[in-house]
Amino acid sequence: MYKLLRSILFLFSPEWVHYSSMNLLKLACSIGFKRRFLKWCFSPPSSFPVTIFLGLNFKNPVGLGAGFDKNARYLRELECLGFGFVEIGTVTPLPQAGNEKPRLFRLPKDKALINRMGFNNEGVEVVTIRLKEWKEKKSNSKLIIGGNIGKNKVTPNEEAWKDYEICFKKLHPYVDYFVVNVSSPNTPGLRELQEKDALKKILTHLQEINKPLDQPKPILLKIAPDLTKEQIDDVIDLAIEIKLDGLVAANTTISREQLTTTKSKLEIIGAGGLSGLPLQKRSTEIVKYISERTNGQIPVIASGGIFTTNDAKEKLNAGASLVQVWTGFVYEGPAIVKRICKNL
Ligand SMILES: Cc1cc2nc3c(=O)[nH]c(=O)nc-3n(C[C@H](O)[C@H](O)[C@H](O)COP(=O)(O)O)c2cc1C
Repeated sequence: MYKLLRSILFLFSPEWVHYSSMNLLKLACSIGFKRRFLKWCFSPPSSFPVTIFLGLNFKNPVGLGAGFDKNARYLRELECLGFGFVEIGTVTPLPQAGNEKPRLFRLPKDKALINRMGFNNEGVEVVTIRLKEWKEKKSNSKLIIGGNIGKNKVTPNEEAWKDYEICFKKLHPYVDYFVVNVSSPNTPGLRELQEKDALKKILTHLQEINKPLDQPKPILLKIAPDLTKEQIDDVIDLAIEIKLDGLVAANTTISREQLTTTKSKLEIIGAGGLSGLPLQKRSTEIVKYISERTNGQIPVIASGGIFTTNDAKEKLNAGASLVQVWTGFVYEGPAIVKRICKNL
């Protein structure tokens, strides 16, 4: 059924389809009986709860990766589709338009996407107001919300720590955990912040603000799949040293290796982060490496190429505590969470 719908949706621009389908879902969810029907259709069996990160209870281990609901506009709808958690953002202090369109491309032959969105978002003020309203209205919701934070394009790297601080302080009362994003390939220079000293400055600063709070929130770091073994070792050492709560592995890759999509099509598409099936193996490798090197001491959220129950199992067996989908949602459709959870 979704395959047929997908072949129609794939005739239109990916970004237009993204917002149109989510807005249609929003409309459907605004009517009580339709919302209950959707929930009934898509809710997975509640047989796999996970408790992790300072006692956070995830009703299931399947979440939605950052960048799908950048502005926290669709939480009720995503909850209806059964997600155990949603990572909003990447949110920056000031609103940003992002890169010029088109900036999102499908690679159907590879079950992949390439994006160079460039942290388009409404800014932390607007997102905070929206999250506050959500918390007040849905105080009984079991949906865990992660806040993925970044820096504005115009902020120089030396001052990036200030942007992370602004987002952290604003969002703190309204999200359940944080993800520090220094691994997106679409903000010039951002990935240089994965270098040990730069990272240490940002993360230590956030920990210093977080720890004395009445309700400190788990802080995770999201890493790029293109890091070398030595760079991953540095990240792990730092994570242990400053008692980071977890890692998200991994963001999109700049690699274009082993794709079926033709070189000429890739050239027309141009720069951006590749996600989906081509990322699957590398992401599992990193999860496994982190888990083995730390004896499972650092919880990992796995992201990259998860489409099916087997893909999710592969990540969990590699040592992940939770998994996130993004490209899989586009290719598999709204029943993806239910399908993955059914056979876990
Ligand atoms: C269009 C698009 C936008 C994204 N935006 C963000 C973002 O703002 N912040 C972030 O940390 N990751 C972002 N990502 C990366 C995803 O969260 C995820 O880590 C990556 O796509 C790998 O998972 P997948 O193979 O399931 O798609 C984005 C991915 C896509 C496809």
